[in-house]
Amino acid sequence: MKSTQFTAHLGGEAAFALRAAVEAAVRAPSVHNTQPWTFVIEDGEIALRADADRKLTLSDPAGRELLISCGAALFTVRLTLRGFGYEPLVRVLPDPDRPSLVATVRLGERGEPDEHTRMLRAEIERRRTHRAGFTELPVPDRLVEALVLQAGAEGAKLTPVRSPAAVRVLAALTCAAQDVQSQDRAFSLEGIRWALPPDSSRKDGVPAGSYPREAERTSPHFAQRDYAHGHPWGNDNDQSMSASTGVVVLLTTRGDSREDWVAAGQAMQRALLHASAHGTDAAFHTQALEMFHLREFLRQELCSGDYPQMIIRLGFSFDETVSVRRPVAEVLQER
Ligand SMILES: Cc1cc2nc3c(=O)[nH]c(=O)nc-3n(C[C@H](O)[C@H](O)[C@H](O)COP(=O)(O)O)c2cc1C
Repeated sequence: MKSTQFTAHLGGEAAFALRAAVEAAVRAPSVHNTQPWTFVIEDGEIALRADADRKLTLSDPAGRELLISCGAALFTVRLTLRGFGYEPLVRVLPDPDRPSLVATVRLGERGEPDEHTRMLRAEIERRRTHRAGFTELPVPDRLVEALVLQAGAEGAKLTPVRSPAAVRVLAALTCAAQDVQSQDRAFSLEGIRWALPPDSSRKDGVPAGSYPREAERTSPHFAQRDYAHGHPWGNDNDQSMSASTGVVVLLTTRGDSREDWVAAGQAMQRALLHASAHGTDAAFHTQALEMFHLREFLRQELCSGDYPQMIIRLGFSFDETVSVRRPVAEVLQER
């Protein structure tokens, strides 16, 4: 996307804050690192748009994961503006005639950012997706309770799955979904498009250094996505201390509308950044949620009729993984 000169009438600090918010937003997690978003800054407003060309047409036909990803970017915009001392004025899905317009954000009243805002903001760059087991170090109950509150404040429900039987069910469904997807040629090809070989210079997709070549199996085992597709790709991080499943949590919403998906993305990012601030990593396993019958089964059997949006494991790890992002100039237009 071509970037033009920023000519808005805003003061320098406001313009700087808006741009910084977009620079931070691109760090948000997105399914397969598709980064399915574009931004326009115009007349003192950020417009966040979903990029339908980056939708996973097979595994995400309705754009649910796409909007969760955009929701995570939206929370990051809000957080960054707060960090700059501006109350963000947000309209989510403001125009039914422009479905790709996920949100608009303007600058509201000024106010000192609180300690929590500062703490979360410091994690935007640091947070990474983990793709292996965790160390045996337990995630404190108090932290899990705090994450429940963080997600709840954004209109989604984060529930720790405490019953070992329920964790086994989730693990089994994840493995089943992974097996089905890897047997399906079209699904595999869609995944391959976003799996980067070790020498790739691409700035989207999942880099080979972001998952271990060989990981310890956790018990119960949650299948990882097969980003290597039979190649000896992956990092050499020592996984010998990483055999714990960690705490499994479900992120759910009461409804399953586009608004709910954006809310789920905002809640997820808020909880992830809070977890990261406490040294806790997150691993995602969303394969089963991409299969209608499995998602419906989970909704009825484990989610009390609410809609499962994310399956996440939380825990402590030692490894440092890498990720990539497209340059901001590619996704931002300033008018
Ligand atoms: C909706 C959604 C679904 C995701 N599902 C998975 C998954 O099933 N397996 C996985 O390893 N990562 C998953 N991720 C994480 C992305 O792959 C990750 O955010 C992206 O590669 C960018 O890397 P980073 O989070 O380390 O910055 C998911 C992320 C989102 C937002």
